[in-house]
Amino acid sequence: MKNIALIGFMGSGKTTLAKLLADRLGYDLYEVDDDIVSASEYSSVNEIFDKHGELHFRELEKNAIYRAIQKSKQVISCGGGVVTSENGMMLLKENATIIFLHADYKTITKRLIGTNSRPLFRYMEKAMALYAQRLPLYKKYADVEITTDDKTPEQVADDIIAKLPK
Ligand code: S3P
Repeated sequence: MKNIALIGFMGSGKTTLAKLLADRLGYDLYEVDDDIVSASEYSSVNEIFDKHGELHFRELEKNAIYRAIQKSKQVISCGGGVVTSENGMMLLKENATIIFLHADYKTITKRLIGTNSRPLFRYMEKAMALYAQRLPLYKKYADVEITTDDKTPEQVADDIIAKLPK
């Protein structure tokens, strides 16, 4: 049984959906960011970015993807920047059905307002440019694309399950 990998911008609902899907399908949950942090000597993604920068984080992220695909029947919740690594995405593509959770930028900002756990969401203009840059990558790698604006997580989970390969 293949894995399911959730991709999408920060705030697109990957973590929430991954938990719901894992419950409903009886799959294990694999949170890439949590794995990166626990394999490091740091206590948060923010701390890794602040101490070592984004490039270092991307290396750790690639290693975490490699660890993730060693097993099957998991819902893998990826960080929003996973699509910046072609190698990482090739590994996922071979070992998972890739679901893109698509939310408008407006929806994303509504969901993330008041949060401070995302180093790349600190500056609004940069985050907006990143969204525009990433959108074609999410679409390129997706096996299935699901819009999430105005839907409850349960509705999104239903949509995903209906579109999973039989
Ligand atoms: C990032 C997204 C974050 C986390 C890190 C970098 C990104 O994950 O991996 O802050 O580059 O978009 P979420 O998408 O789960 O917030």
